[in-house]
Order: sequence, then C-alpha cells, then structure tokens
Amino acid sequence: MAKKKAALKIFGVLGYPAKHSLSPAMHNAAFKFLKIDARYRIFEVEPSKLKDFFSSLGRRAICGLNITIPYKQSVFPYIRHMTPEAVMIGAVNTVKVTPKGLLGYNTDGEGFLHHLTKDLLFDPRGKNIAVLGAGGASRAVCVYLCKAKPKRIVIFNRDRSKTIDLVHVLNMNTSGIDLVAADSIAHLRLEDTDLLINTTSVGMKDNDPSLVDAGYLHKGMLVYDLVYSRKSTRLMDDARARSCRVANGLGMLLYQGMLAFKIWTGRTPPKKVMSKALGLRKT
Ligand code: ATR
Repeated sequence: MAKKKAALKIFGVLGYPAKHSLSPAMHNAAFKFLKIDARYRIFEVEPSKLKDFFSSLGRRAICGLNITIPYKQSVFPYIRHMTPEAVMIGAVNTVKVTPKGLLGYNTDGEGFLHHLTKDLLFDPRGKNIAVLGAGGASRAVCVYLCKAKPKRIVIFNRDRSKTIDLVHVLNMNTSGIDLVAADSIAHLRLEDTDLLINTTSVGMKDNDPSLVDAGYLHKGMLVYDLVYSRKSTRLMDDARARSCRVANGLGMLLYQGMLAFKIWTGRTPPKKVMSKALGLRKT
C-alpha cells in the first residue's frame, strides 16, 4: 500500500501588525534547505479574533508559532505549560502545538545571550553591564544575562516602577549579582561599564535621539542596540565614533529564531542559511 503523504506543516508569526516580520524569510529558507515539508506564514490577527484564531490551530495544521507585539502576554490563557524562564520574563515569544496543548517558551533572552557569547565572544561573567529600558525585551535579556553571572547589572527606565519590579524579579531568582535600579542615566555608572544595552524602542524611528550622552561612551565598551529595523541608530553612530564595539539586534533575531526552529522541529537549525536570509553577512 502506498504510504500516505504527511500533511504540510504550518508555522508562523502571530502579531498585529506583523506584515514586516523578517521571520518568514529566515524559517522558510531553513525548511527548504533541510527539505522539511513546512511553510512559515504571517498571521496578522486583530485582537477581537484572537480566540477564534487559537481555536482554529488544529484545522489549519499549525504546529508552531512565534508571538510578537501585542500578544506576548495575551497568549497566556491559551498556553498549557510555560517554561520557568518565560514565566520570569512574563512573555511568550514561541509556542509549540502538541496533542496535549500549547507549550510556551521565550527564546528572546537566550537568543541575545547566544549572539553575545558565540558571535561577539563577550563573556558576561564578572562584567559590569548597563541596561536602558525595563520592558519585555529588557526582562528577557536581563533574565538570561543573570544566568551568565555578571558582576553588576544597572538598569535605567523612564518609568522607574518597571525597573524596581524587574530588579525584584531578578533578585528573587539569582544571587551574587549586584542588581541596581538607576534613577537616571548618570547613575548607570557607565564609566566602568563593559556592556551597554539599549532595549528601548528609542532608535527605531528616523531622527530618534540617543538616550545616552556620547561623552559616557568609551573604548573597551561593547554597545549593543536591540533595534534591528535600521542599519544604525544614533547610539550606535556615537558608539562607533568613540571607538566602542557595536552590535545591533539582528543577531539576537537570528538566534531566537534558531532556538524556536529547534523547539518546533527537533532539528539543528542551519545557521548560515538563516543568517543569509536575514541579510546578515558575517555571523
Ligand atoms: P519591548 O517588548 O520591545 O521591550 P515594551 O515592553 O513596550 O516593548 O518596552 C518599551 C521600552 O522602551 C520601555 O522600557 C519604555 O520605557 P517606559 O517603560 O518608561 O515607557 C522604553 N521607551 C519607549 N519610548 C521611550 C522614550 N521616548 N524614552 C525612553 N524610553 C522609552
């Protein structure tokens, strides 16, 4: 008897808006390279249709999802089990559909740490780190940075209550790291900072300023701006002019995608193929 052909597996990114996502290019290139019969699509779903969307996963043969703005928390009611890291971060960016229900992961922070350590060869252990922002991206980055045992993480956010909350969560789950909620940029202690990370959305728009006065940037500092929607930001330009090492968030996007791919398929993600699809020249 002829073997029944397995159904095409569907993956995708759920968001609103989600049209400009780079993830379809990255994942479809990987499926094609590994000859996996699957497609990665964009699911731009209005908030009022979210419940219907989750009810239709089986019918649509959806096996896995990336979750983006504004649904990284709205998905919680549909998830059967979340990893401890996703709980700590308070956001899910990757979902695996299983017969027993949906599993929720957060690969953003781990993706950041992989890019930092594997590609940029920056070992956070014993280092002084300063973080701008205390939103979802910051929480993901900080939770994973703590696993790498830096000496200090100082966080500044415009809304200080979020910084205090984040420092509290990190303190509850780690020890031996000096965790500080700075009440101004001046208190970030940038003079002896090894790694400065911008997790805020400042820099995404044309003519956005840098939150940090260029005078605080110094040689020997790695400046990592999570923004990847543009080649450079004012912060990155200033950092280059002050001879700092500079990175943007494309590497983090690549690694969070590779981690999601592994969760969904169990296969080793083809890094070169995926980075080429993102337009990354050197990884
Ligand atoms: P994400 O999931 O991308 O982190 P988010 O949770 O909405 O998105 O967080 C956005 C971050 O950018 C926050 O730290 C936000 O600061 P507030 O909490 O004070 O709003 C920060 N941010 C956005 N616009 C900003 C601005 N103009 N100046 C300073 N910080 C800004």
